[in-house]
Amino acid sequence: MTADSDVAIDTAGHEHELKRVLGPMSLVALGVGATIGAGIFVITGTAAAQYAGPAVLFSFVFAAFGCLFAGLCYAELAAMIPQSGSAYTYAYASFGRFAAWVIGWDLALEYGVAAGAVAVGWGGYFQAFMTNIGMPLPIPHALMNAPIGVDPHGGLMLTGALINLPAVAIVAFVSLLLILGVRESAGANTLLVAFKVLIIVMVVAFGLPLISAHNLTPFIPENQGKFGAFGWSGILRASGVIFFSYIGFDTVSVAAQETHNPQRDLPIGILGSLVICTVLYIFMALTMVGLAHYSTLNVPNPVTVAIRAGGWPLAWLEPWVNLGALIGTSTVILVSLYGQTRILYSMSRDGMLPRMFSRLAPRSKTPVYGTLVTFAFGAFLGGIFPIDILGELVSIGTLLAFVLVCVGVLVLRATKPNASRPFVTPFSPITPLLGIAFCGAMMYGLPGDTWIRLAVWFIVGLVIYATYGVWHAKKPVFEL
Ligand code: ALA
Repeated sequence: MTADSDVAIDTAGHEHELKRVLGPMSLVALGVGATIGAGIFVITGTAAAQYAGPAVLFSFVFAAFGCLFAGLCYAELAAMIPQSGSAYTYAYASFGRFAAWVIGWDLALEYGVAAGAVAVGWGGYFQAFMTNIGMPLPIPHALMNAPIGVDPHGGLMLTGALINLPAVAIVAFVSLLLILGVRESAGANTLLVAFKVLIIVMVVAFGLPLISAHNLTPFIPENQGKFGAFGWSGILRASGVIFFSYIGFDTVSVAAQETHNPQRDLPIGILGSLVICTVLYIFMALTMVGLAHYSTLNVPNPVTVAIRAGGWPLAWLEPWVNLGALIGTSTVILVSLYGQTRILYSMSRDGMLPRMFSRLAPRSKTPVYGTLVTFAFGAFLGGIFPIDILGELVSIGTLLAFVLVCVGVLVLRATKPNASRPFVTPFSPITPLLGIAFCGAMMYGLPGDTWIRLAVWFIVGLVIYATYGVWHAKKPVFEL
């Protein structure tokens, strides 16, 4: 199908269809690009230092299983309902308006808040990289750090800083790329993804031979008397926290309306990117906790710390690692913002949000208003909050979306047994049930404060739904 034949002009003369420009390889690149970012480059270190020690490796394996089961369910729904909008669209097609709103609002946590979180990670490595190349940033500390921090009890406190300007700047830059058009941004994305994967492979190839058994013992540090502080509960909590690093492979499904052959390409994109990321993460995490003692990794740039612990044989790698982290996080920001604008597009097309979010620019066919609002949201969060708060909120929101997707597969198998399923989740109902169990367990492992933030998010969402969405929603564009 050509892009032009897909374009419909509405009565106001606005074009409402997105161009079909993405093939299976671009989708895998989109998935890997959306996935490898601040999670592996930042949150692995903080999770090892605070919750799991070297056993953070088990957390990665546990989270990977949760993603695998949920990813298989995602692929079934994505191929059944090949429309832009991700789990939001699946929910609308299968369960109706309210469920769709809940999941669409929840996905804003996954994409919009993640963009802010990853921008904070980008800022940490940006400062390190500029110092590496002898050009430390001439910006006062107060303008490079979040004004809000976490106190020792998990609550919020003021840090004395004013704003994290590097985080705001990267969100602004990437938003501009998106406004210029998906073809250009997806092409650049493929190159950048290849580079960050190469950097991870280099860290593993040169670092793994130098790891010390001393750093890996005890492999599971003893629990310190409360849930989540090392021991097995620490491994579970760390799984929920580092789950953040897997988020993104499902972004592939958001691009359904921009792919040549969604039925075949979406499952390839989703599962291909998940497998690549899992293998890279497990080796990278082993290298980090093997090179440096886990207690030293609670810093904004833990991979740099691990490389330094490897001594002079790894010194040459340091600027490359910082550059790889910068590029890695930039592509995640790109795809998170992209995903968020496409969800807004779908929700607006269905009347759940004002029409301006589905209005496309005439030449680039990108949703400019949606991108600007997404920019403002991501820049605000990234400028104000630390990565821990944002990352855990993103994890819990996405885990909830995954649980709902698994439930969706089970319900649709029962209610629409004859619907066409170009991709069938194997071993149902076992796979969806395992997805619910693994993702539910990771949610359970996250701190109580994160649950409270999730609840507040939903209360705000319900107010918007009750005052706008419920009055304007149309029938879904796709029904099973
Ligand atoms: N998975 C993404 C990251 O780690 C959100 O940055």
